[in-house]
Amino acid sequence: MPIQRPTPAFHLAPALAGERSLSPTLYINQRVKERWAAGETIYHLGFGESRFPVHPKIRAALIAHADARSYLPTLGIPELRRAVADFYTKYMGVDATPERVIVAPGSKPLLYAFQMALAGDTILPTPSWVSYAPQAQLLNRPVWQIPASPGDEHRLTVEALQQTIAQSAETQHILILNSPSNPTGQMLAPDLLAGIAEVCRATNTLVLSDEIYALTSHDHTPHVSISQFYPEGTVVLGGLSKHLSLGGWRLGVAIAPTGAAGQQLLQAVVKIGGELWSCVAAPVQYAALTAYGDDPEILGYIAESSRLHMARTQHLWRGLCELDIPCARPEGGFYLYPNFDGWRQALAAKSIHTSDDLARHLLDVWHIASLPGTAFGAPAKELSLRLSSSYVDMEDDAQAAALLALHRSGVDAEALVRDHHPALAGALTNFRAFLASLHE
Ligand SMILES: Cc1ncc(COP(=O)(O)O)c(C=O)c1O
Repeated sequence: MPIQRPTPAFHLAPALAGERSLSPTLYINQRVKERWAAGETIYHLGFGESRFPVHPKIRAALIAHADARSYLPTLGIPELRRAVADFYTKYMGVDATPERVIVAPGSKPLLYAFQMALAGDTILPTPSWVSYAPQAQLLNRPVWQIPASPGDEHRLTVEALQQTIAQSAETQHILILNSPSNPTGQMLAPDLLAGIAEVCRATNTLVLSDEIYALTSHDHTPHVSISQFYPEGTVVLGGLSKHLSLGGWRLGVAIAPTGAAGQQLLQAVVKIGGELWSCVAAPVQYAALTAYGDDPEILGYIAESSRLHMARTQHLWRGLCELDIPCARPEGGFYLYPNFDGWRQALAAKSIHTSDDLARHLLDVWHIASLPGTAFGAPAKELSLRLSSSYVDMEDDAQAAALLALHRSGVDAEALVRDHHPALAGALTNFRAFLASLHE
């Protein structure tokens, strides 16, 4: 007779307890997989991952260091910290020095560790990337969202920042900025950054400046780092996931603020990293040394990938504009954030009242996967969606390599997008049909 044991009931930690429905991101990804498995065509504008091939020199460096198996310093190997500092100084407009650099398995754990290391409430622009608010919640830290509206393309203003900080009773705050932005693709202009820096200095607000899309900025807008205006109060974050398509290799970097306070903060993060992840995988650190090594071939590859991201993203934006869908022009990265509030009445007639409803409807009826604005902190009733151009027509590695080869054979980026992107074209056709269905 098997022994009957009672089923244990383990209680979750308070930050994770309570009823939670499946997140919209998980829901969309799960549904897309199911429908692909059923042989359906789905235009996946919901998934944001840069998918160009690993650069051969970086792959060779990883393989050459496969035997590097010892633990390394939590801060990273000194030569990599130096390479990162030089790279950021030369190409990213950040006046960096090696002793302020830390590397970690992705910028995501670094964002978490810096929030964990600091006292104070978290202040977030609206909309902002999906993980910032949940990370703060895991740390039981209040989050203040800076309100913004689709009417002015969700622009962040100094006044709105000031008003939001004033609501928090804390004497210290953490502001997370992200330029170029996921989800809007917009960048923060230098005069705005200068204004934000002034407010932050006056209110004892530390900036976590997530600049992971900096090297994917589009031709019409150069990237500027807020650290130029606020070096003593800015942590700059980045990594290899976006401009070199190496998300799964897990290499993130951060550059701590200048001065003694910056060093103290960095030491606190090293303590957290030492207890949580120990170090970045050794072969990945050596491969990163090549990635940050100022090699003209790799810099050329970064520029080439970014040009293609730009062409694909701007093409999608132009397509939305032709349909009169309000959407800020993306300035970097591969995201767009269109708004459908203008169709509110017609959508309500189809029982679509929230961005979650809208994302589900587009997927279920029109085969377009997107993410609802709620995933980015937008109010449920604001009918905004995040679209990503990074996945369509590059659904597998062979397609990504083939597009790159076509481009290298002389097909310019515009022609490549126009003539060799059937899924992007299909998505735009379905957006047109969806809007037409609202007038029936
Ligand atoms: C705005 C933003 N920050 C950070 C990350 C995380 O990147 P990493 O792979 O370095 O953890 C992402 C990834 O999607 C992102 O979009």
